[in-house]
Amino acid sequence: MSDKKNHPLSDPKNWAPETQLVHGGGLRTPFNETSEAIFMNSGYSYPSSQHAEDIFTHKIEGHNYSRFANPTLDMFQERMALLEGAEAARAFATGMAAVTNAVMSQVRAGDHIVASRALFGGCRYVVEDFMPRWGVSSTLVDGRDPANFEAAMRPNTKLVFIETPTNPTIELVDIRAVADIAHAHGARLIVDNVFATALHQHPLKLGADLVTYSATKHIDGQGRTLGGVVLGSKELIEGDVHTLLRQTGPSLSPFNAWVLLKSLETMPLRVRQMSESAARIAAFLDGHAKVARVAYPFLKSHPQYELAQRQMSNGSTLLAIDVKGGREAAFKLSDALSVILISNNLGDAKSLITHPGTTTHQRFSEAVRLESGITPGLLRLSVGLENTDDLIADLSFALDQI
Ligand SMILES: Cc1ncc(COP(=O)(O)O)c(C=O)c1O
Repeated sequence: MSDKKNHPLSDPKNWAPETQLVHGGGLRTPFNETSEAIFMNSGYSYPSSQHAEDIFTHKIEGHNYSRFANPTLDMFQERMALLEGAEAARAFATGMAAVTNAVMSQVRAGDHIVASRALFGGCRYVVEDFMPRWGVSSTLVDGRDPANFEAAMRPNTKLVFIETPTNPTIELVDIRAVADIAHAHGARLIVDNVFATALHQHPLKLGADLVTYSATKHIDGQGRTLGGVVLGSKELIEGDVHTLLRQTGPSLSPFNAWVLLKSLETMPLRVRQMSESAARIAAFLDGHAKVARVAYPFLKSHPQYELAQRQMSNGSTLLAIDVKGGREAAFKLSDALSVILISNNLGDAKSLITHPGTTTHQRFSEAVRLESGITPGLLRLSVGLENTDDLIADLSFALDQI
């Protein structure tokens, strides 16, 4: 056997993302399986009472209960941490469980949160409705201008929460600028990085303290399972995030962790192809007679194009289309599509179109929706893996029906 210690690729941190996502975090049982094993067990047995005590008191490393310790989850968490460049990660049953844990783990009654108002509906609910019930107040700001965060900070602000690009309006928030503001006030920054994906935007490198994902989206990317991840420093993840997960139990099933682990192997291929298509579709829609506005980060007409170039390496897979003629026109377009499906999911191999005003954001008043840029004609398009020409032909036909 050759000595591989000095091999430049002996450390997975030196691997390119594609290699990390195929091999990273892999653990092999004595059977030496090539594909990762599913540890579909809730508990563990111990060779002695002393061994059990030593595991519970952290004298030795070992797994003691799958609510917070499972080898299949270890592999998924380690693979995600490598990709993100994070020290540690914890997996959750859904993206909302991940976001709720990340937020709740960082605040106590009496604290204050500043968040951008253009957020996925569930995330906004957590910050705006749930947190105040437990004595944590919140202020929502227009996230496009970092000065709005500065103006909203209070002495008791402990957390800033942003999503960029935003769901569904594809607005951007300057992560570096907001991280600097949060830290100057002694607060932490959480970034929901679902829309950009871990391949195209690195919030931790830009100053974020925690990053969250709905793994339901591009990580699974095939519409099969829900999941979530929170990543950051060992101190935060193995401290408050782990404790809240361990004691409240929003845990990911080992089977779902395995599905997500295997999906990571193909994520770069899928997301690269989907992003290429999204850029071509955005260019096709830009200036189309039936379209009032199309928002895609890497389209030159995007008002924050310069920021997109600075903090993202690719425009990613989602775009917002404001069709002329409001809700009626948006419904007509969606209903005339043959390949693209009407659905509220995103990041999937299948292209999906959503009318946020009547689905994901229907609970908000018209005034709140308009303030967040959710106009009656707004559609969110998640570009999938179908042939790009087919997708353009589908949209072209549907636009002609308006
Ligand atoms: C930006 C964003 N964050 C969080 C979530 C919640 O994820 P999940 O549906 O897995 O709970 C979603 C879901 O659509 C989302 O789009």
